[in-house]
Amino acid sequence: MTDTTAQRTLVLVKPDGVRRNLSGEVLRRIEAKGYTLVALELRTADRELLAGHYAEHEGKPFYEPLVEFMLSGPVLAAVVEGHRVIEGFRSLAGTTDPTTAAPGTIRGDLGRDWGLKVQQNLVHGSDSPESAAREIGLWFPNL
Ligand code: PPS
Repeated sequence: MTDTTAQRTLVLVKPDGVRRNLSGEVLRRIEAKGYTLVALELRTADRELLAGHYAEHEGKPFYEPLVEFMLSGPVLAAVVEGHRVIEGFRSLAGTTDPTTAAPGTIRGDLGRDWGLKVQQNLVHGSDSPESAAREIGLWFPNL
């Protein structure tokens, strides 16, 4: 049976995407796919927010460089709504490594390895309904 319950996900345009003026392109792809923006904010994260956001990755080798990168400039945070939007946005985003992400995806079309120590892959999307609820609560506590 079809699930008719609309879902929400947290999308971030990471500092590399904002710096490269790709925020509009990411939002364009989300809207063109048919999803709805329900909240949008350009802000610079702080360590506390990122510690919550990336709690499950604490201790991994990429954790500290990732947090430093995420602190390096403003991030565009968005709550996006639609049926199956969590998997739908992850499909739009493409796989983690932008060098090998499929053409047609945000990372595959717009990202690449810049030879920096941290992987810059333009966007984040929640990976499960539980993560989405937790992340939306962190970034948009008043929603
Ligand atoms: S894991 O270990 O399988 O859970 O990793 P993955 O799901 O692919 O990625 C989890 C988040 O960490 C980011 N990531 C990295 N950032 C910087 N450098 C490196 N090497 C790196 N490896 C993974 C990845 O982009 C995910 O972050 P978000 O914000 O969710 O995209």
